[in-house]
Amino acid sequence: MKNTFYVTTPIYYPSGKFHIGTAYTTVLADTIKRYKKLRGYDTYMLTGTDEHGQKIQTVAEKAGKTPQQYVDEMAQQAKELWAKMHISYDDFIRTTEDRHKKIAQKIFEYFLEKGDIYKGEYEGLYCMPCESYFTETQLVDGKCPDCGREVKLMKEEAYFFNMKKYADRLLKYYDEHPEFIQPEYRKTEMLNNFIKPGLEDLCVSRTSFDWGIKVPSDPKHVIYVWLDALTNYLTALGYLSEDDTLFKKYWPADLQIVGKDIARFHLIYWPIFLMALDLPLPKTILVHNWIMMKDGKMSKSKGNVVYPEKLIDRYGLDATRYFLLRELPISQDGLYTPESFVERYNSDLCNDLGNLVNRTVSMVNKYFEGKVPEYNGTPNEVDKEFEEFTNNQIEKVEQLMDKYELSNAIPEIWSLISRTNKYIDETRPWELAKNEETEKLQSSMYHLIENIRKIGILVMPIMEETSQNLLKQIGIPEKMQTWDSLKNYNKLSGIKVIEKGEPLFMRKNMEEELEYLRN
Ligand code: MSP
Repeated sequence: MKNTFYVTTPIYYPSGKFHIGTAYTTVLADTIKRYKKLRGYDTYMLTGTDEHGQKIQTVAEKAGKTPQQYVDEMAQQAKELWAKMHISYDDFIRTTEDRHKKIAQKIFEYFLEKGDIYKGEYEGLYCMPCESYFTETQLVDGKCPDCGREVKLMKEEAYFFNMKKYADRLLKYYDEHPEFIQPEYRKTEMLNNFIKPGLEDLCVSRTSFDWGIKVPSDPKHVIYVWLDALTNYLTALGYLSEDDTLFKKYWPADLQIVGKDIARFHLIYWPIFLMALDLPLPKTILVHNWIMMKDGKMSKSKGNVVYPEKLIDRYGLDATRYFLLRELPISQDGLYTPESFVERYNSDLCNDLGNLVNRTVSMVNKYFEGKVPEYNGTPNEVDKEFEEFTNNQIEKVEQLMDKYELSNAIPEIWSLISRTNKYIDETRPWELAKNEETEKLQSSMYHLIENIRKIGILVMPIMEETSQNLLKQIGIPEKMQTWDSLKNYNKLSGIKVIEKGEPLFMRKNMEEELEYLRN
Protein backbone atom coordinates (compact mmCIF):
# COMPACT_ATOMS: atom_id res chain seq x y z
CA MET A 1 0.00 0.00 0.00
CA LYS A 2 1.17 3.51 -0.85
CA ASN A 3 2.02 5.17 2.41
CA THR A 4 2.83 8.62 1.09
CA PHE A 5 0.43 11.51 0.86
CA TYR A 6 1.11 14.49 -1.38
CA VAL A 7 -1.27 17.42 -1.03
CA THR A 8 -1.16 20.73 -2.85
CA THR A 9 -2.84 24.12 -2.62
CA PRO A 10 -3.10 26.41 -5.63
CA ILE A 11 -0.16 28.74 -5.87
CA TYR A 12 -1.43 32.22 -5.03
CA TYR A 13 -1.28 35.37 -7.07
CA PRO A 14 0.68 37.69 -4.84
CA SER A 15 -1.31 40.67 -6.05
CA GLY A 16 -2.50 41.88 -2.66
CA LYS A 17 -2.92 40.90 0.97
CA PHE A 18 -4.56 37.50 1.48
CA HIS A 19 -8.01 37.53 3.06
CA ILE A 20 -9.78 34.80 5.02
CA GLY A 21 -11.19 33.37 1.79
CA THR A 22 -7.80 32.88 0.20
CA ALA A 23 -6.42 31.56 3.46
CA TYR A 24 -9.13 28.92 3.57
CA THR A 25 -7.65 26.65 0.86
CA THR A 26 -4.34 26.55 2.67
CA VAL A 27 -5.84 25.94 6.12
CA LEU A 28 -7.86 23.08 4.66
CA ALA A 29 -4.80 21.53 3.03
CA ASP A 30 -2.77 21.93 6.20
CA THR A 31 -5.46 20.30 8.33
CA ILE A 32 -5.77 17.33 5.99
CA LYS A 33 -2.02 16.97 5.90
CA ARG A 34 -1.85 16.95 9.70
CA TYR A 35 -4.62 14.38 9.84
CA LYS A 36 -2.87 12.10 7.37
CA LYS A 37 0.35 12.47 9.30
CA LEU A 38 -1.41 11.41 12.47
CA ARG A 39 -2.72 8.41 10.55
CA GLY A 40 0.84 7.37 9.82
CA TYR A 41 1.34 8.66 6.28
CA ASP A 42 4.58 10.11 5.04
CA THR A 43 3.14 13.47 4.03
CA TYR A 44 4.28 16.28 1.77
CA MET A 45 2.47 19.56 1.35
CA LEU A 46 3.18 22.12 -1.34
CA THR A 47 2.13 25.73 -1.59
CA GLY A 48 3.64 28.80 -3.23
CA THR A 49 3.13 31.86 -5.37
CA ASP A 50 2.14 32.31 -9.00
CA GLU A 51 4.25 35.29 -9.91
CA HIS A 52 4.04 35.87 -13.65
CA GLY A 53 1.54 37.47 -15.97
CA GLN A 54 0.15 40.77 -16.92
CA LYS A 55 -1.86 41.27 -13.76
CA ILE A 56 1.27 41.11 -11.60
CA GLN A 57 3.21 43.32 -14.01
CA THR A 58 0.48 45.95 -13.79
CA VAL A 59 0.16 45.97 -9.99
CA ALA A 60 3.94 46.15 -9.66
CA GLU A 61 4.05 49.16 -11.97
CA LYS A 62 1.30 50.85 -10.02
CA ALA A 63 3.28 50.28 -6.83
CA GLY A 64 6.31 51.88 -8.53
CA LYS A 65 8.35 48.67 -8.38
CA THR A 66 9.88 46.25 -10.79
CA PRO A 67 7.85 43.05 -11.03
CA GLN A 68 10.70 41.12 -9.42
CA GLN A 69 10.98 43.53 -6.48
CA TYR A 70 7.25 43.40 -6.07
CA VAL A 71 6.92 39.60 -6.09
CA ASP A 72 9.89 39.23 -3.75
CA GLU A 73 8.14 41.37 -1.18
CA MET A 74 4.80 39.69 -1.66
CA ALA A 75 6.18 36.16 -1.46
CA GLN A 76 7.81 37.15 1.82
CA GLN A 77 4.48 38.51 3.06
CA ALA A 78 2.76 35.26 2.11
CA LYS A 79 5.35 33.23 4.00
CA GLU A 80 4.86 35.42 7.06
CA LEU A 81 1.12 34.86 7.01
CA TRP A 82 1.54 31.10 6.68
CA ALA A 83 3.97 31.13 9.58
CA LYS A 84 1.43 33.02 11.66
CA MET A 85 -1.23 30.49 10.69
CA HIS A 86 1.10 27.53 11.49
CA ILE A 87 0.79 26.16 7.97
CA SER A 88 3.04 23.13 7.92
CA TYR A 89 3.99 23.17 4.25
CA ASP A 90 7.05 21.23 3.16
CA ASP A 91 7.89 23.37 0.20
CA PHE A 92 7.00 26.84 -1.01
CA ILE A 93 7.52 27.22 -4.71
CA ARG A 94 7.77 30.53 -6.52
CA THR A 95 7.29 30.46 -10.27
CA THR A 96 10.09 32.99 -10.70
CA GLU A 97 12.61 30.52 -9.30
CA ASP A 98 15.07 28.94 -11.72
CA ARG A 99 14.15 25.42 -10.67
CA HIS A 100 10.63 26.10 -11.92
CA LYS A 101 11.37 28.21 -14.98
CA LYS A 102 13.84 25.74 -16.49
CA ILE A 103 11.46 22.82 -16.26
CA ALA A 104 8.40 24.78 -17.40
CA GLN A 105 10.44 25.66 -20.51
CA LYS A 106 11.41 22.03 -21.02
CA ILE A 107 7.77 21.02 -20.80
CA PHE A 108 6.74 23.67 -23.34
CA GLU A 109 9.44 22.60 -25.79
CA TYR A 110 8.50 18.96 -25.32
CA PHE A 111 4.87 19.70 -26.20
CA LEU A 112 6.05 21.64 -29.22
CA GLU A 113 8.26 18.79 -30.44
CA LYS A 114 5.46 16.34 -29.90
CA GLY A 115 3.06 18.46 -31.94
CA ASP A 116 0.69 19.05 -29.03
CA ILE A 117 1.56 22.73 -29.20
CA TYR A 118 1.37 24.42 -32.60
CA LYS A 119 1.78 27.97 -33.85
CA GLY A 120 -1.32 29.84 -34.96
CA GLU A 121 -3.02 33.17 -34.74
CA TYR A 122 -4.93 34.55 -31.84
CA GLU A 123 -7.84 36.75 -32.68
CA GLY A 124 -9.83 38.74 -30.20
CA LEU A 125 -11.13 42.08 -29.04
CA TYR A 126 -8.19 43.94 -27.60
CA CYS A 127 -8.08 46.87 -25.22
CA MET A 128 -4.82 48.78 -25.79
CA PRO A 129 -4.46 50.56 -22.44
CA CYS A 130 -5.33 47.39 -20.51
CA GLU A 131 -3.31 45.17 -22.85
CA SER A 132 -6.02 42.53 -22.63
CA TYR A 133 -8.15 40.47 -24.93
CA PHE A 134 -11.84 40.03 -24.28
CA THR A 135 -14.62 38.00 -25.81
CA GLU A 136 -17.79 39.59 -27.13
CA THR A 137 -19.74 38.53 -24.07
CA GLN A 138 -17.22 39.98 -21.63
CA LEU A 139 -17.61 43.49 -23.02
CA VAL A 140 -19.79 46.01 -21.23
CA ASP A 141 -21.83 48.06 -23.71
CA GLY A 142 -19.38 46.99 -26.39
CA LYS A 143 -16.47 48.53 -24.45
CA CYS A 144 -13.63 47.24 -22.27
CA PRO A 145 -15.10 45.84 -19.03
CA ASP A 146 -12.11 47.12 -17.04
CA CYS A 147 -11.60 50.70 -18.23
CA GLY A 148 -14.65 51.41 -20.43
CA ARG A 149 -12.59 52.35 -23.50
CA GLU A 150 -12.93 51.19 -27.11
CA VAL A 151 -11.68 47.72 -28.03
CA LYS A 152 -10.26 46.69 -31.41
CA LEU A 153 -10.35 43.38 -33.26
CA MET A 154 -6.72 42.27 -33.29
CA LYS A 155 -4.72 39.28 -34.43
CA GLU A 156 -1.39 38.13 -33.11
CA GLU A 157 0.83 35.16 -33.61
CA ALA A 158 0.49 32.72 -30.75
CA TYR A 159 1.01 29.12 -29.73
CA PHE A 160 -1.92 26.83 -29.04
CA PHE A 161 -2.27 23.59 -27.17
CA ASN A 162 -4.27 20.95 -28.97
CA MET A 163 -6.89 20.22 -26.32
CA LYS A 164 -9.28 18.57 -28.75
CA LYS A 165 -6.88 15.68 -29.23
CA TYR A 166 -7.29 14.68 -25.58
CA ALA A 167 -11.02 15.33 -25.04
CA ASP A 168 -12.13 11.70 -25.41
CA ARG A 169 -9.35 10.41 -23.22
CA LEU A 170 -10.33 12.89 -20.54
CA LEU A 171 -13.97 11.82 -20.66
CA LYS A 172 -12.97 8.19 -20.37
CA TYR A 173 -10.76 9.03 -17.42
CA TYR A 174 -13.60 10.85 -15.64
CA ASP A 175 -15.82 7.82 -16.15
CA GLU A 176 -13.33 5.27 -14.95
CA HIS A 177 -12.17 7.26 -11.92
CA PRO A 178 -15.16 8.43 -9.91
CA GLU A 179 -12.89 9.58 -7.08
CA PHE A 180 -10.98 11.95 -9.38
CA ILE A 181 -13.32 14.93 -9.05
CA GLN A 182 -14.90 15.84 -5.76
CA PRO A 183 -17.63 16.84 -5.15
CA GLU A 184 -19.09 14.91 -8.05
CA TYR A 185 -21.37 17.67 -9.33
CA ARG A 186 -18.30 19.56 -10.52
CA LYS A 187 -17.77 16.82 -13.09
CA THR A 188 -21.24 17.36 -14.52
CA GLU A 189 -20.50 21.06 -14.65
CA MET A 190 -17.30 20.49 -16.64
CA LEU A 191 -19.04 18.10 -19.00
CA ASN A 192 -22.02 20.33 -19.70
CA ASN A 193 -20.28 23.69 -19.80
CA PHE A 194 -17.00 22.92 -21.48
CA ILE A 195 -16.46 19.42 -22.77
CA LYS A 196 -19.76 18.55 -24.50
CA PRO A 197 -20.02 21.90 -26.34
CA GLY A 198 -16.55 21.06 -27.74
CA LEU A 199 -13.20 21.80 -26.16
CA GLU A 200 -11.39 24.76 -27.69
CA ASP A 201 -7.65 24.64 -28.17
CA LEU A 202 -5.95 26.79 -25.57
CA CYS A 203 -3.75 29.75 -26.39
CA VAL A 204 -0.58 29.08 -24.40
CA SER A 205 1.69 32.00 -25.25
CA ARG A 206 1.56 35.78 -25.17
CA THR A 207 3.53 38.51 -26.89
CA SER A 208 1.71 41.57 -25.53
CA PHE A 209 3.77 41.71 -22.32
CA ASP A 210 7.01 40.16 -21.19
CA TRP A 211 6.69 39.36 -17.47
CA GLY A 212 6.70 35.62 -17.89
CA ILE A 213 8.81 32.61 -18.79
CA LYS A 214 10.21 32.95 -22.30
CA VAL A 215 9.56 30.26 -24.90
CA PRO A 216 13.18 29.16 -25.46
CA SER A 217 12.85 28.56 -29.19
CA ASP A 218 10.87 31.77 -29.82
CA PRO A 219 11.69 34.24 -27.05
CA LYS A 220 9.37 37.02 -28.09
CA HIS A 221 6.65 34.80 -26.64
CA VAL A 222 6.15 34.20 -22.95
CA ILE A 223 4.40 31.06 -21.72
CA TYR A 224 0.75 31.59 -20.78
CA VAL A 225 0.55 32.01 -17.03
CA TRP A 226 -1.72 29.00 -16.45
CA LEU A 227 0.53 26.56 -18.30
CA ASP A 228 3.46 28.01 -16.35
CA ALA A 229 1.60 27.86 -13.03
CA LEU A 230 0.06 24.41 -13.28
CA THR A 231 3.41 22.77 -13.83
CA ASN A 232 4.51 23.95 -10.36
CA TYR A 233 3.00 20.81 -8.86
CA LEU A 234 5.63 18.83 -10.78
CA THR A 235 8.58 21.19 -10.83
CA ALA A 236 8.53 21.54 -7.04
CA LEU A 237 9.19 17.81 -6.78
CA GLY A 238 12.15 18.01 -9.12
CA TYR A 239 10.41 16.51 -12.15
CA LEU A 240 12.81 16.37 -15.14
CA SER A 241 15.60 17.79 -12.98
CA GLU A 242 18.87 16.22 -11.89
CA ASP A 243 17.35 15.21 -8.59
CA ASP A 244 13.87 13.81 -8.98
CA THR A 245 13.80 11.79 -5.75
CA LEU A 246 10.80 13.65 -4.41
CA PHE A 247 8.98 13.29 -7.67
CA LYS A 248 9.52 9.55 -7.68
CA LYS A 249 8.41 9.32 -4.11
CA TYR A 250 5.30 11.51 -4.11
CA TRP A 251 3.87 11.73 -7.62
CA PRO A 252 0.97 11.26 -8.40
CA ALA A 253 -0.52 13.70 -5.93
CA ASP A 254 -3.12 12.26 -3.61
CA LEU A 255 -5.06 15.45 -3.19
CA GLN A 256 -5.09 18.77 -4.98
CA ILE A 257 -7.31 21.39 -3.43
CA VAL A 258 -8.66 24.30 -5.47
CA GLY A 259 -11.40 26.91 -5.22
CA LYS A 260 -14.38 26.83 -7.56
CA ASP A 261 -13.15 29.73 -9.69
CA ILE A 262 -10.16 27.73 -10.87
CA ALA A 263 -11.91 24.37 -11.24
CA ARG A 264 -11.84 24.45 -15.05
CA PHE A 265 -8.06 24.86 -15.17
CA HIS A 266 -7.52 21.97 -12.80
CA LEU A 267 -10.19 19.60 -14.03
CA ILE A 268 -9.66 20.02 -17.77
CA TYR A 269 -6.34 21.60 -18.77
CA TRP A 270 -4.26 20.15 -15.96
CA PRO A 271 -5.19 16.48 -16.53
CA ILE A 272 -4.71 16.98 -20.26
CA PHE A 273 -1.21 18.41 -19.74
CA LEU A 274 -0.42 15.40 -17.58
CA MET A 275 -1.73 13.00 -20.21
CA ALA A 276 0.42 14.76 -22.78
CA LEU A 277 3.41 14.20 -20.49
CA ASP A 278 2.44 10.54 -20.05
CA LEU A 279 2.19 11.04 -16.33
CA PRO A 280 -0.35 9.52 -13.96
CA LEU A 281 -3.09 11.89 -12.83
CA PRO A 282 -3.65 13.00 -9.24
CA LYS A 283 -5.94 10.75 -7.29
CA THR A 284 -8.38 13.46 -6.26
CA ILE A 285 -8.98 17.07 -7.11
CA LEU A 286 -11.16 18.64 -4.47
CA VAL A 287 -13.04 21.75 -5.48
CA HIS A 288 -14.31 23.90 -2.65
CA ASN A 289 -16.75 26.77 -2.70
CA TRP A 290 -16.25 30.26 -1.37
CA ILE A 291 -16.55 32.15 1.85
CA MET A 292 -19.05 34.89 1.20
CA MET A 293 -20.09 38.00 3.03
CA LYS A 294 -23.68 39.09 3.59
CA ASP A 295 -23.35 41.44 0.63
CA GLY A 296 -21.73 38.88 -1.65
CA LYS A 297 -18.08 38.40 -2.57
CA MET A 298 -15.31 39.92 -0.50
CA SER A 299 -13.84 42.82 -2.39
CA LYS A 300 -11.71 45.84 -1.65
CA SER A 301 -14.08 48.15 -3.48
CA LYS A 302 -16.99 47.07 -1.29
CA GLY A 303 -14.77 47.48 1.75
CA ASN A 304 -15.94 44.16 3.20
CA VAL A 305 -12.66 42.28 3.18
CA VAL A 306 -11.70 40.39 6.36
CA TYR A 307 -8.02 39.64 6.87
CA PRO A 308 -6.99 36.65 8.96
CA GLU A 309 -4.74 38.82 11.14
CA LYS A 310 -7.76 40.69 12.46
CA LEU A 311 -9.27 37.48 13.79
CA ILE A 312 -6.06 35.81 14.89
CA ASP A 313 -4.78 38.79 16.88
CA ARG A 314 -7.90 38.97 19.00
CA TYR A 315 -9.29 35.42 19.12
CA GLY A 316 -6.20 33.34 18.45
CA LEU A 317 -5.22 31.17 15.54
CA ASP A 318 -7.23 28.14 16.62
CA ALA A 319 -10.54 29.96 16.81
CA THR A 320 -9.88 31.37 13.33
CA ARG A 321 -9.00 28.00 11.83
CA TYR A 322 -11.95 26.42 13.60
CA PHE A 323 -14.39 28.94 12.18
CA LEU A 324 -13.14 28.64 8.62
CA LEU A 325 -13.21 24.87 8.58
CA ARG A 326 -16.50 24.56 10.37
CA GLU A 327 -18.46 27.19 8.47
CA LEU A 328 -17.46 26.45 4.91
CA PRO A 329 -19.08 23.29 3.58
CA ILE A 330 -16.94 22.16 0.65
CA SER A 331 -19.88 21.76 -1.71
CA GLN A 332 -21.65 25.05 -0.95
CA ASP A 333 -20.63 28.59 -0.24
CA GLY A 334 -20.21 29.46 3.44
CA LEU A 335 -21.08 32.71 5.12
CA TYR A 336 -18.91 34.86 7.34
CA THR A 337 -20.64 37.30 9.63
CA PRO A 338 -19.14 38.90 12.74
CA GLU A 339 -22.12 37.55 14.71
CA SER A 340 -21.56 33.97 13.61
CA PHE A 341 -17.86 34.24 14.39
CA VAL A 342 -18.44 35.44 17.96
CA GLU A 343 -21.29 33.00 18.43
CA ARG A 344 -19.11 30.04 17.42
CA TYR A 345 -16.35 31.32 19.65
CA ASN A 346 -18.55 31.68 22.70
CA SER A 347 -20.74 28.70 22.23
CA ASP A 348 -18.58 25.98 20.64
CA LEU A 349 -15.16 26.83 21.94
CA CYS A 350 -15.75 28.57 25.22
CA ASN A 351 -18.92 26.91 26.51
CA ASP A 352 -18.79 23.43 25.05
CA LEU A 353 -15.11 22.62 24.88
CA GLY A 354 -13.58 25.05 27.36
CA ASN A 355 -16.07 24.38 30.13
CA LEU A 356 -15.88 20.64 29.75
CA VAL A 357 -12.16 20.67 30.37
CA ASN A 358 -12.40 23.21 33.14
CA ARG A 359 -15.16 21.44 35.04
CA THR A 360 -13.50 18.07 34.75
CA VAL A 361 -10.08 19.25 35.85
CA SER A 362 -11.54 20.96 38.89
CA MET A 363 -13.56 17.87 39.84
CA VAL A 364 -10.55 15.57 39.60
CA ASN A 365 -8.73 18.03 41.86
CA LYS A 366 -11.60 18.26 44.28
CA TYR A 367 -12.47 14.58 44.60
CA PHE A 368 -9.16 12.84 43.95
CA GLU A 369 -6.45 15.39 44.73
CA GLY A 370 -5.74 15.82 41.05
CA LYS A 371 -5.05 12.15 40.31
CA VAL A 372 -7.08 10.23 37.75
CA PRO A 373 -8.68 7.49 39.86
CA GLU A 374 -8.55 3.74 39.42
CA TYR A 375 -11.20 2.25 37.21
CA ASN A 376 -12.07 -1.43 37.39
CA GLY A 377 -12.55 -1.70 33.62
CA THR A 378 -16.13 -2.92 33.80
CA PRO A 379 -18.47 -0.24 32.56
CA ASN A 380 -21.86 0.11 34.25
CA GLU A 381 -25.00 0.74 32.16
CA VAL A 382 -24.48 4.48 31.78
CA ASP A 383 -20.80 4.09 30.99
CA LYS A 384 -21.43 1.38 28.47
CA GLU A 385 -23.75 3.50 26.42
CA PHE A 386 -21.32 6.38 26.75
CA GLU A 387 -18.38 4.27 25.55
CA GLU A 388 -20.37 3.01 22.60
CA PHE A 389 -21.43 6.49 21.62
CA THR A 390 -17.82 7.65 21.85
CA ASN A 391 -16.50 4.84 19.65
CA ASN A 392 -19.21 5.49 17.16
CA GLN A 393 -18.37 9.16 16.93
CA ILE A 394 -14.67 8.43 16.45
CA GLU A 395 -15.59 6.09 13.64
CA LYS A 396 -17.77 8.76 12.00
CA VAL A 397 -15.10 11.44 12.32
CA GLU A 398 -12.53 9.16 10.71
CA GLN A 399 -14.79 8.33 7.81
CA LEU A 400 -15.60 11.98 7.14
CA MET A 401 -11.98 13.09 7.47
CA ASP A 402 -11.01 10.36 5.01
CA LYS A 403 -13.47 11.89 2.56
CA TYR A 404 -12.04 15.36 3.33
CA GLU A 405 -15.40 16.48 4.66
CA LEU A 406 -14.06 18.68 7.43
CA SER A 407 -17.20 20.73 7.85
CA ASN A 408 -19.12 17.53 8.52
CA ALA A 409 -16.46 15.92 10.68
CA ILE A 410 -16.23 18.89 13.05
CA PRO A 411 -19.92 18.79 14.10
CA GLU A 412 -19.43 15.08 14.91
CA ILE A 413 -16.55 15.99 17.21
CA TRP A 414 -18.79 18.59 18.80
CA SER A 415 -21.56 16.00 19.30
CA LEU A 416 -19.04 14.02 21.26
CA ILE A 417 -18.19 17.11 23.31
CA SER A 418 -21.88 17.73 24.03
CA ARG A 419 -22.42 14.11 24.93
CA THR A 420 -19.48 14.27 27.31
CA ASN A 421 -20.91 17.39 28.94
CA LYS A 422 -24.21 15.57 29.25
CA TYR A 423 -22.42 12.65 30.91
CA ILE A 424 -21.47 14.99 33.75
CA ASP A 425 -25.13 15.87 34.28
CA GLU A 426 -26.11 12.21 34.05
CA THR A 427 -23.58 10.86 36.50
CA ARG A 428 -23.85 13.87 38.85
CA PRO A 429 -20.41 13.47 40.42
CA TRP A 430 -21.20 15.96 43.21
CA GLU A 431 -23.98 13.65 44.45
CA LEU A 432 -21.80 10.57 44.10
CA ALA A 433 -19.23 12.33 46.26
CA LYS A 434 -21.78 13.35 48.83
CA ASN A 435 -23.23 9.83 49.01
CA GLU A 436 -19.76 8.29 49.03
CA GLU A 437 -20.45 6.16 45.97
CA THR A 438 -16.75 5.98 45.34
CA GLU A 439 -16.64 3.36 42.62
CA LYS A 440 -19.17 5.24 40.48
CA LEU A 441 -17.39 8.50 41.10
CA GLN A 442 -14.09 6.93 40.03
CA SER A 443 -15.67 5.60 36.89
CA SER A 444 -17.24 8.95 36.07
CA MET A 445 -13.97 10.87 36.44
CA TYR A 446 -12.06 8.23 34.56
CA HIS A 447 -14.47 8.31 31.62
CA LEU A 448 -14.45 12.08 31.52
CA ILE A 449 -10.69 12.30 31.37
CA GLU A 450 -10.59 9.53 28.79
CA ASN A 451 -13.08 11.34 26.56
CA ILE A 452 -11.30 14.64 26.89
CA ARG A 453 -8.12 12.86 25.83
CA LYS A 454 -9.94 11.53 22.78
CA ILE A 455 -11.40 14.92 21.96
CA GLY A 456 -7.93 16.43 22.30
CA ILE A 457 -6.63 14.01 19.68
CA LEU A 458 -9.59 14.50 17.36
CA VAL A 459 -9.12 18.28 17.27
CA MET A 460 -5.34 18.03 16.88
CA PRO A 461 -5.22 18.53 13.09
CA ILE A 462 -7.53 21.54 13.34
CA MET A 463 -6.29 23.31 16.45
CA GLU A 464 -2.86 22.19 17.46
CA GLU A 465 -2.29 24.64 20.28
CA THR A 466 -5.64 24.04 21.94
CA SER A 467 -5.13 20.33 21.63
CA GLN A 468 -1.71 20.52 23.26
CA ASN A 469 -2.95 22.81 25.99
CA LEU A 470 -5.90 20.56 26.73
CA LEU A 471 -3.85 17.36 26.78
CA LYS A 472 -1.33 19.06 29.04
CA GLN A 473 -4.05 20.14 31.46
CA ILE A 474 -5.15 16.54 31.89
CA GLY A 475 -1.58 15.29 32.01
CA ILE A 476 -1.60 12.98 28.99
CA PRO A 477 1.85 11.67 28.03
CA GLU A 478 2.89 11.77 24.39
CA LYS A 479 2.47 8.07 23.77
CA MET A 480 -1.23 8.40 24.59
CA GLN A 481 -1.70 11.25 22.15
CA THR A 482 -1.61 9.14 19.02
CA TRP A 483 -4.53 8.58 16.68
CA ASP A 484 -4.08 4.83 17.07
CA SER A 485 -4.69 5.13 20.77
CA LEU A 486 -8.13 6.68 20.16
CA LYS A 487 -9.96 3.42 20.14
CA ASN A 488 -8.57 2.00 23.37
CA TYR A 489 -9.41 2.80 26.89
CA ASN A 490 -5.96 3.45 28.24
CA LYS A 491 -4.31 3.08 31.57
CA LEU A 492 -4.91 6.59 32.71
CA SER A 493 -5.19 5.91 36.43
CA GLY A 494 -2.61 7.77 38.44
CA ILE A 495 -2.07 10.47 35.83
CA LYS A 496 -1.92 13.87 37.43
CA VAL A 497 -4.08 16.67 36.07
CA ILE A 498 -3.08 20.30 36.37
CA GLU A 499 -3.94 21.99 39.66
CA LYS A 500 -5.48 25.05 38.18
CA GLY A 501 -5.83 25.19 34.42
CA GLU A 502 -6.20 28.41 32.47
CA PRO A 503 -9.50 28.46 30.56
CA LEU A 504 -8.92 27.36 26.97
CA PHE A 505 -11.06 30.24 25.67
CA MET A 506 -12.31 33.37 27.44
CA ARG A 507 -15.94 34.26 26.93
CA LYS A 508 -16.46 37.43 24.91
CA ASN A 509 -19.09 40.11 25.06
CA MET A 510 -21.03 40.09 21.79
CA GLU A 511 -21.57 43.86 21.59
CA GLU A 512 -17.93 44.67 22.22
CA GLU A 513 -16.78 42.13 19.69
CA LEU A 514 -19.15 43.32 17.02
CA GLU A 515 -17.78 46.78 17.54
CA TYR A 516 -14.25 45.46 17.03
CA LEU A 517 -15.12 43.26 14.06
CA ARG A 518 -17.11 45.89 12.22
CA ASN A 519 -14.32 48.43 12.28
N1 MSP B 1 -2.79 31.75 -9.10
C1 MSP B 1 -4.02 31.06 -9.22
C2 MSP B 1 -3.84 29.58 -8.92
C3 MSP B 1 -2.85 28.85 -9.76
S1 MSP B 1 -2.69 27.20 -9.30
C4 MSP B 1 -1.74 26.52 -10.44
C5 MSP B 1 -5.07 31.66 -8.26
N2 MSP B 1 -4.60 32.36 -7.23
S2 MSP B 1 -5.53 33.21 -6.22
O1 MSP B 1 -4.61 33.83 -5.32
O2 MSP B 1 -6.38 34.08 -6.96
O3 MSP B 1 -6.47 32.23 -5.46
C6 MSP B 1 -5.95 31.24 -4.59
C7 MSP B 1 -7.05 30.39 -4.00
O4 MSP B 1 -7.90 31.17 -3.14
C8 MSP B 1 -8.00 29.79 -5.04
O5 MSP B 1 -8.21 28.42 -4.74
C9 MSP B 1 -9.29 30.55 -4.85
O6 MSP B 1 -10.42 29.81 -5.19
C10 MSP B 1 -9.24 30.81 -3.36
N3 MSP B 1 -10.16 31.86 -2.93
C11 MSP B 1 -10.18 33.18 -3.29
N4 MSP B 1 -11.24 33.78 -2.66
C12 MSP B 1 -11.90 32.89 -1.89
C13 MSP B 1 -13.00 32.93 -1.01
N5 MSP B 1 -13.68 34.03 -0.78
N6 MSP B 1 -13.32 31.79 -0.36
C14 MSP B 1 -12.61 30.62 -0.51
N7 MSP B 1 -11.58 30.55 -1.35
C15 MSP B 1 -11.24 31.65 -2.09
O7 MSP B 1 -6.24 31.45 -8.50
